Parts: sequence; C-alpha cells; structure tokens
Amino acid sequence: MAANYTNPIVRWIDSRLPVFTMMRHEYYDYQMPRNCNYLWSFGAFAAITLMIMIVTGIFLAMNYTDNTLLAFTSVERIMRDVNYGWLLRYIHMNGASMFFIVVYIHVFRGLYYGSYKSPREILWMLGVVILILMMATAFMGYVLPWGQMSFWGATVITNLFSAFPIIGDPIVTLLWGGFSIDNPTLNRFFALHYLLPFLILGVVVLHVAALHIVGSNNPYGIDMKGPQDGLPFHPYFTIKDGFALVLFFLVYACFVFFAPNYLGHADNYIPANPLVTPSHIVPEWYFLPFYAMLRAVPSKLGGVLTMFSSLLVLFVLPWLDTSKIRSAKFRPIYKQFFWFLVAACLVLGYAGSQPAEGIWLVVARVGAVYYFFHFLILLPLLGKLERPLPLPTSISEPVLKGSGPVPAGAHAKPMEKA
Ligand code: HEM
Repeated sequence: MAANYTNPIVRWIDSRLPVFTMMRHEYYDYQMPRNCNYLWSFGAFAAITLMIMIVTGIFLAMNYTDNTLLAFTSVERIMRDVNYGWLLRYIHMNGASMFFIVVYIHVFRGLYYGSYKSPREILWMLGVVILILMMATAFMGYVLPWGQMSFWGATVITNLFSAFPIIGDPIVTLLWGGFSIDNPTLNRFFALHYLLPFLILGVVVLHVAALHIVGSNNPYGIDMKGPQDGLPFHPYFTIKDGFALVLFFLVYACFVFFAPNYLGHADNYIPANPLVTPSHIVPEWYFLPFYAMLRAVPSKLGGVLTMFSSLLVLFVLPWLDTSKIRSAKFRPIYKQFFWFLVAACLVLGYAGSQPAEGIWLVVARVGAVYYFFHFLILLPLLGKLERPLPLPTSISEPVLKGSGPVPAGAHAKPMEKA
C-alpha cells in the first residue's frame, strides 16, 4: 500500500521502489508497547554505535599500514600527524568499549524481561550471533596497533585452539598464516576486522526484521491486546530515544575527551616484542568474565570448552527457561537470581583482571559454577517451582483504570501514563 506523498520526487521513487513506504511502516507507524522504558533505547544506541565504528574505522584504515614493521608507527602517525587522527582513533577505540557496555545492558534487559522467550527465540539467537561476531571483531581490532598487549593477547587467544585434539594445531597454523604470529597474521586480522562489521550489520538488519515481525516485548512481558496498549514509534519513541541518545553521547564524549586511555592498557603503547613477555597479560575489560572462566578450569581444553560454552548456552536459553511468565517483575524468585547472575558476571570480570592464583582463582571458579548453574539448573527448575504474581490483564489496564492487579513495584510510572 503506497502512501500518498506530497513531494513529487518521493512519490515517483516510492511508486517504483517503495523504500519510503517501507521505512514509514517500520520506523514511523511501528507500534511500540506504551510502557517501554529507557532500557528499550539501548538497541538504538547499539545500532548508532555500530555505524560510528564503521565510519571511523574506514577513515582509520585509510591511514593505517598492516605490516608488522609499520603498524605501530602508522598508528602513532594517525595520532600525531593526520588531521583529527587522534579524534578518529579515540572515538573508535572508546567506541568499542561503549558498544560492549550498551550491548551488555541490552542483553541483560532481555534476560530481566524475558525478551528471549516465545515468539522471540530467533530474534534472541540472532543477537547471540551478533555478540560472538562483535567479540571476534574486537579481538582482531586490538591486534592491529601491534603493541605488546596486541601481540601477547593474540598469542594467548590463538593458542587456545591448539587445545583441541587433532584439528587444534592445523587451526592455529591457519589463524597465524604460518608457524608463529607474524606479518601474515596481522594481514588476515586486518582483512577480517574490516569485513566482520559489515557482516554484523547484515545480521542486525535480520535482528530488527525479526523484531518487527513479532513486535517488541515490554516491562510487563505481556502481549499487546489492542491499539490502546501501543503507541506509534514516531514521535513518542523517536523523541525518547533521541533524548537518551544525547545522554549516551555525553558519557561517550567524557571518555573520548577526558579519559581516552582509561579503559585501555598502558603496555599497548610499547611496540610488540616477541622476545619480552609482559608480566601480566590481560584482555580488554569486556572479555574479562570470559577470560576468568577460561582460567578457572585447570585443564586447557576444559577451560576453552567452558569459555565457549558460556556463550553457546545462550543459544538454547529460550528452551532452558521453562517459565511461561516473561518479565521478572512477576517472578519474585527469578528476580533475585537475576541479580545474582549480574553479580557473578561482575565478580568474574574482576577475577579475570587479577593473576590466576590464590583467592582470585577460587572466586573465578565459584563465579563460573554459578553462571552455568543459573542457566542449566536454576532456570529449568524455577519455571516449574516458582509461583508468579498475578499479571495485569493488559498493558494499559493498570494505567488507565488506576488500580489493576499490579503487584507492588509494578505501578505505572509517569512515562507509562502517556
Ligand atoms: C550490534 C548489536 C545489536 C544491535 C544493533 C541491536 C539492535 C536492536 C534493536 C534496534 C532492537 C529494538 C530496540 C530495543 O528493544 O532495544 C533490539 C531488540 C532486541 N535485541 Fe538487539 N541488538 C544488538 C545485539 C543484541 C544481542 C547481543 C542480543 C542478545 C543476545 C539482542 C537481543 C535482542 C532482543 C531479545 C530484542 C527484543 C527486545 C524486546 O522487544 O524486549 N540484541 N535489538
């Protein structure tokens, strides 16, 4: 159904290729549950951050040299001599951290409100694919400046694959492009680091398409019963997301302009030296919980399998959680355990930043055991045992009628009365 556009050029294009009608349908008329809070802005933040990363990355690539003899100095040249090179690099470098902060909040929002449950399983699984691709991209990007942490981080992580029997060593040789980390490794990491963000973009398009087929979840986790439960995306949510985006950019700008190296490691300003191992090899902060799980297991293969399983378990999450109720607002016991999971991930992150010995090894082990216990044992059992609180009959009912069967803590906030 083509809309009747007043602009003749838009009308001419749209009657031949209805891109404007499609955009209008997906981002203007799209019905959002009216009670969605600011946590629903994080998908938009992630999409914008991805665009920022792609654009700044392309400009950096114009000045970067993927050769082990020149990579480090080409980055220093970007910082000192290229016009606004320092800005491009700091936006890109800190953009990776902002991207992970945003996506981790986006994922935990999904875990709290049960957004991974039917009918949003494919949407969720596409999200997990994005997360894994983001990790691969970030890992390879960190190698490019060819500093000490780049080199030794790449050494530790690529060597993990050698833990697999038979196929392990051939995989490592393939990743290295030879028999040690050297120029061919840097070349392939650069090629893949350039490619993967476009693959992520493709999966994001599918992710949002899958979302728009089934519609957005909301803080009550119940379906929209009619037009009174929803609001068109524009202007209500464009304005709301726009305001939140300004705040997000403020935080991002604080890192870029006031603490650009706060989240990085000083050793990466030392050129890579295969003969000198840093006393303490640590990955970027967003990998720390996974790094802690890797080191928590005494056997190398066991550690590698534990680390990969911590991501793979997310694929089957929609089937592990047996509860019919989506939102933690109406699941009093799950709500407590959700915060245990958050705490376990933070503690794992801290343990990952510490040497793998003494108390930190114990802490990492406890954290890893809780992580898997949460998904593999607790969620299947809790769905059967927990008695959920009564659900409101509709999204608008508790708001419009004033005193619906809403439990304490779930009362309408001013925004939800819109
Ligand atoms: C590049 C990274 C990502 C982008 C650009 C992105 C984008 C979006 C957007 C725009 C939305 C709709 C707005 C919102 O609900 O926040 C959304 C929803 C959603 N995303 Fe993502 N996403 C990303 C990563 C992920 C990841 C890693 C997961 C999970 C593992 C995930 C799971 C979900 C789910 C379950 C929803 C539906 C939420 C609901 O309706 O309650 N996303 N995403």
